[in-house]
Amino acid sequence: MKTLIKNGRIVTAVDNYLGDILIEDETVALIGKKLDMTADTVIDAADKLVIPGGVDPHTHMEFPFGGTMASDDFRTGTIAAAYGGTTTIVDFAIQYRGESLTQAIDNWHRKAEGKPAIDYGFHLIVSELPDERVPELKRVIRDDGVTSFKLFMAYPGAFLVDDGTIFKAMSAAGEAGGLVCMHAENGIVIQELIKRALAEGHTAPKYHALTRPTKAEAEGTARAIAIAEMAEAPVYIVHLSCHDALVKVQEARDMALPAYAETCPQYLFLDYTRYEQEGFEGAKYVLTPPLRDKWHQDELWKGLRMDDLQVVSTDHCPFCFKEQKELGKDDFSKIPNGGPGVENRLSLIYNGGVVGGRINLNRFVQLVSTAPAKLFGLFPKKGTIAVGSDADIVIFNPQAETTISAATHHMNIDYNAYEGMRVQGVAETVLSRGKVIIAKGKYLGTPGEGRFLKRSTFGWK
Ligand code: URP
Ligand code: ZN
Ligand code: ZN
Repeated sequence: MKTLIKNGRIVTAVDNYLGDILIEDETVALIGKKLDMTADTVIDAADKLVIPGGVDPHTHMEFPFGGTMASDDFRTGTIAAAYGGTTTIVDFAIQYRGESLTQAIDNWHRKAEGKPAIDYGFHLIVSELPDERVPELKRVIRDDGVTSFKLFMAYPGAFLVDDGTIFKAMSAAGEAGGLVCMHAENGIVIQELIKRALAEGHTAPKYHALTRPTKAEAEGTARAIAIAEMAEAPVYIVHLSCHDALVKVQEARDMALPAYAETCPQYLFLDYTRYEQEGFEGAKYVLTPPLRDKWHQDELWKGLRMDDLQVVSTDHCPFCFKEQKELGKDDFSKIPNGGPGVENRLSLIYNGGVVGGRINLNRFVQLVSTAPAKLFGLFPKKGTIAVGSDADIVIFNPQAETTISAATHHMNIDYNAYEGMRVQGVAETVLSRGKVIIAKGKYLGTPGEGRFLKRSTFGWK
C-alpha cells in the first residue's frame, strides 16, 4: 500500500521545506522534490503544512478519580485526539496499594484493549514502593516498555507518596534509564488549607484555587528537583502552571541538572478569573494545579521559547459538568479534578504560539511532538518525518479558522474549557502509521487499530 503526499510544506523540529513524501505501508519510505511514482492514494497538500503527528504525553482516559471516572475512554478520547492532530498518547496506569507494578500494567492493558484509535503507551503511577518492589520497577523499564513513572506529592489519602518513596523510585528509575514524572505540589499543606477553608464555610469552586497557592507548587518543584539530584536521576515536572515553579526549573537547568518540565494549554490560555464566574460555572476549571493569575501566562510562554519548558501536553482528564463536577456542588474539595483538552492542543498552541508571534513553526512541532517523543522513548519512530519513521502525519491547514465548541468537539464531555475561542490552524487530514484516519471532518479508522508502544529508555547520561 503506497500513499503519496504531494506539494506540502514539510515542517519538523528542524526542517521547513516544500517536498513530497512517499509512504509504503506504515512508514515513510522516501522524501523528495516532485516525486512522480504511482501510489494507491495521492494527497495534495499544496498550501498546507505537513507535520509529524502530535504526541501528547499526559492524558487520563477512563481515569478513576474523585469517586468517578474520566468521561473519555480509550476509544472516544483517542478519536478526539486524532481529530485534533494527535497520533500518540502516553496515558497513566495506576498501581493501587497492595498491587504489583506488573498487575497494574496488565489491568491497564485490559482497560485499553480493542479501543485506541491511535498508538499509545503507559506511564505507571506508583502508589507505594516497598524495597522488595524496587527490582520490579527496573524490570518493567527493561521488559514492559513502561519507562516512565508518575509520583504524586499531592492528593493525600489517594496518590500522595512520601519523599523516601520518591527518592527510591527516582534512584531505581535513574539507574535503569527511566524517568520519574512529578506532580509537584505540597499536598500536606494544601490539605490543611482546604480544611481551614471548609471550616470557614467556603465551599465554592474558587476555593479550589485559593487553597492551592503557587508557593505550594514551587516548593514541590524545588523538592522534586533536590530529591532527583540526590538520587542522581532526571526528573520531569508535569503540568507546571506558574512562574514560581518555573523559576525552580530554570535554576536547576542553569546548574545543568537533568530537570525537564511541561505546561498545558489551560495554563497558557485560561486564568483565575474563570473561578469567579456566576454560580457553579467555576467547577469546569477545577483542575490541578489550578488556573493562575493571568500574568503567569507570559512567563510560561517565555519558558517555552527559552526551553526551560520542553513540552506542551494536555493533562486531558475530562469530567462532565452535569453529574460529575456536580459531585462537589456543596463542597469544592469533592469536585473531581481535571479538564478536557486532548482535541484542542495543536490548534491552540499553533494559534497562540505561531500566529501569536511567540514561537516559530519548528518550535511548535518540537513542543507538541518531537520533544515528548524524545523524552519518553518514542523518537524517531514518532515525533518526526524521516525515512523509516512511522507515517504518523498531519496535513495542517495554517489558514483555516474554527471556533472551539462542545457543540462540535468529539471529546465525550458536555463542555469545552475553551468554548467560543476562535483559532487559526486546523488539522485537516491525519494519518496513523500510513492510514488516513481523519479526512474531511470524518473519522475513517477502526477503534483498536492503535498499538501499544513499548518505549525505550531515556538515556540521559
Ligand atoms: O486535575 C488534574 N490534573 N487531574 C488529573 C490528575 C493529575 O493530577 O494529573
Ligand atoms: Zn498530576
Ligand atoms: Zn494528569
